[in-house]
Amino acid sequence: MATVTFDHVWKRYSGDVVAVQDLNLDIRDEEFLVLVGPSGCGKTTSLRMIAGLEEVTDGTLKIGERVVNDLAPKDRDVAMVFQSYALYPHMSVRDNLSFGLKLRKVPKPEIERRVQEAAKILDLGALLDRKPKQLSGGQRQRVALGRAIVREPAVFLMDEPLSNLDAKLRAQTRAQILRLHQRLATTFVYVTHDQIEAMTMGSRIAVMSAGLLQQVGPPQELYDHPINKFVAGFIGSPAMNFIEMTASRSDGKVQLTSQDFTFPVPDRLRESVAALSGNTVTVGIRPEHLELGEAKPGDATLRATTDVVEYLGDEEQIHLRAGETEIIALVNSSARVRPGDVLELRVPIDRVHMFDDQSGLSLTSRELAAA
Ligand SMILES: Nc1ncnc2c1ncn2[C@@H]1O[C@H](COP(=O)(O)OP(=O)(O)O)[C@@H](O)[C@H]1O
Ligand SMILES: [Mg+2]
Repeated sequence: MATVTFDHVWKRYSGDVVAVQDLNLDIRDEEFLVLVGPSGCGKTTSLRMIAGLEEVTDGTLKIGERVVNDLAPKDRDVAMVFQSYALYPHMSVRDNLSFGLKLRKVPKPEIERRVQEAAKILDLGALLDRKPKQLSGGQRQRVALGRAIVREPAVFLMDEPLSNLDAKLRAQTRAQILRLHQRLATTFVYVTHDQIEAMTMGSRIAVMSAGLLQQVGPPQELYDHPINKFVAGFIGSPAMNFIEMTASRSDGKVQLTSQDFTFPVPDRLRESVAALSGNTVTVGIRPEHLELGEAKPGDATLRATTDVVEYLGDEEQIHLRAGETEIIALVNSSARVRPGDVLELRVPIDRVHMFDDQSGLSLTSRELAAA
């Protein structure tokens, strides 16, 4: 059983840095969990605590049923792949793969079997006698993965393993790591700052910000039902548009207005918006949910002027302005929008998110949680 459990885990570094605050996270056996968040949010620290490379300041960390707080890294049955690859430059690929096993006194024939197996999985067979400097970046990364695979660990830990690769190689290696996960059926904990990597790779994603876990769930759940403004803005590309509006109730009518727009409030949110009367509510709209063309009953519409158009082939990304508000829309490129065009953008009201500006919490997913 290779579950990993954080139970009220804290990490404080000297000098009053709180890198991880009260982390509660159950990583399931054989899942591909992606830990994602902006630089400095505590991802690497969390991963290094699992590896035993950082001490847990407070709380309990378990691998399987075993509390590992005080267990030496070598006894944890985990293998970590670092961003920097950290290969031994003077050793051949073969020796890089087998070195860790020799240290652990694994019998020679067993080492040979595991090296061959890893070489086969990662297509390294022809490179076994080369030194790292004779390899491309992608090949080095595969050796780094191979070095983790030969350990046959219960948990793979990967810290931004693709960030040194160019875009094309990154996409290829991403698929290779997923294949690896399917083939090995082992728990993977994968750290990245890149939300696209998180969305495409994770069976579940844990979003962190400033040392705090924000939300954990399958990619689609985070995309459809972000629980707060941070997750909403972090997951999805281009990022969700946020429009600050004032909630009001008069003559029984609940409304959201800003200098530039008036926005209808769907029935299901009437009470939560009314309760915020006089306060700011942030309306969130994903660029891909804005559409051109005639509004249907119940749609919200925004009127804005085109500033810049980025052609992306199938789609175009339109930057618009309405007064002080900037909006990005992603539409089919057949629309052929030009700078200066005034557009009527509509959005199906059930795709609109709303957030309490004070707490940042979603009104939309709160309602979902209550249902
Ligand atoms: N050894 C250390 N000593 C003091 N502070 C550290 C140390 N390592 C990381 N930090 C701080 O802890 C926070 C989280 O860092 P880290 O886990 O590396 O973030 P991430 O991997 O998400 O970019 C940051 O504020 C970072 O500066
Ligand atoms: Mg890091």
